[in-house]
Amino acid sequence: MYLLSALSLSVAAIFAVAVSVDFAPLSDAEIEYINSLEGNTWKAGRNFAASDLDRVKRLLGVDIEANAEYNKLHLSYPKMVYPDGDLPATFDARKNWPKCATIKDIRDQSNCGSCWAFGSVEAQSDRHCTIRNITVRLSPEDVLSCCEDCSGSPGKGCLGGFPASAYDYWRKTGVVSGGPYGSKDTCYPYEIPPCHTPTPNCTKLHATPQCTRKCIPGYPKSFEQDKHYGEFSYAVKGVELIMKELVNNGPVTAAFMVFSDFMSYKSGVYKHVSEQYLGGHAVKIIGYGTEDGQDYWLVANSWGTAWGMQGFFKIAKGSDECQIEDAIVAGIPQK
Ligand SMILES: *[C@@H]1O[C@H](CO)[C@@H](O)[C@H](O)[C@H]1NC(C)=O
Ligand SMILES: *[C@@H]1O[C@H](CO)[C@@H](O)[C@H](O)[C@H]1NC(C)=O
Repeated sequence: MYLLSALSLSVAAIFAVAVSVDFAPLSDAEIEYINSLEGNTWKAGRNFAASDLDRVKRLLGVDIEANAEYNKLHLSYPKMVYPDGDLPATFDARKNWPKCATIKDIRDQSNCGSCWAFGSVEAQSDRHCTIRNITVRLSPEDVLSCCEDCSGSPGKGCLGGFPASAYDYWRKTGVVSGGPYGSKDTCYPYEIPPCHTPTPNCTKLHATPQCTRKCIPGYPKSFEQDKHYGEFSYAVKGVELIMKELVNNGPVTAAFMVFSDFMSYKSGVYKHVSEQYLGGHAVKIIGYGTEDGQDYWLVANSWGTAWGMQGFFKIAKGSDECQIEDAIVAGIPQK
């Protein structure tokens, strides 16, 4: 009896130390603590200035609970048919489709909670290539600014939205091309300049840009001519089906819970150590693998290439880490 309770007490004590840090988000103390943890699968470092916390929280533009509800009501859950055969142990869509340049993209949402638009158009762009052999970099701004049903209310774009609604928009309205801020070779490039850290210009949330429904001057096509459409969109549930979907069709959109330590991710396979929840975030999964015995998903973030591993990260696979396996959305482009 005594032995048992002593044992469970020490297990509880170890558990408490291993899964919970109560340091100030983005503090040096939090970073040092993560890197000091025995057996931790990832490394932390400085991606954002500690003073940027308020701005950084606004990058998280998905309400996880509302998103789950939205998906239940708006997405189909088809029984997709995939070819027989074993799945590869490691998969990286960049290597599988080397000609599909957009898979390698890391974009920058800047100080706007537009992750839901980025995570969606990024995967849609890739699939125009992987499935239809068309190279196009779709415009997050078209979705962010012009989709009136995407955020519950028009103009709410930078305050957040639902990936599945961005897929509806792609199917019904189409999405024009759109590269990074300042680029000239697409119809509707991103209008919000990147934030440099620490950045006096980005202390406030950027207002959602007005929808113009016009390509930039000099672009050779009209807004309507430049639209690229989805044929259908759907949810993917279950680790093995997500893997099959990635291998057979290409990148997918995911949403997950962000804890404070994620902001300081630098390398390795992320599992949350902090319990300080900051908000929900949408991203694009491009592959999977195993590192030092830990299975992971390979993911593209939209916080520029200075964040994480040149903008990418790995997160534990198979344990629904931060609910990343719960809200997968995928789509098939029209011919
Ligand atoms: C894909 O598109 C390229 C460029 O338009 C073309 O050269 C190639 O033959 C196409 N591949 C297939 C499988 O259709
Ligand atoms: C901040 O904004 C001002 C005025 O718009 C501009 O001149 C300056 O270059 C910006 N600084 C940075 C770091 O973006």
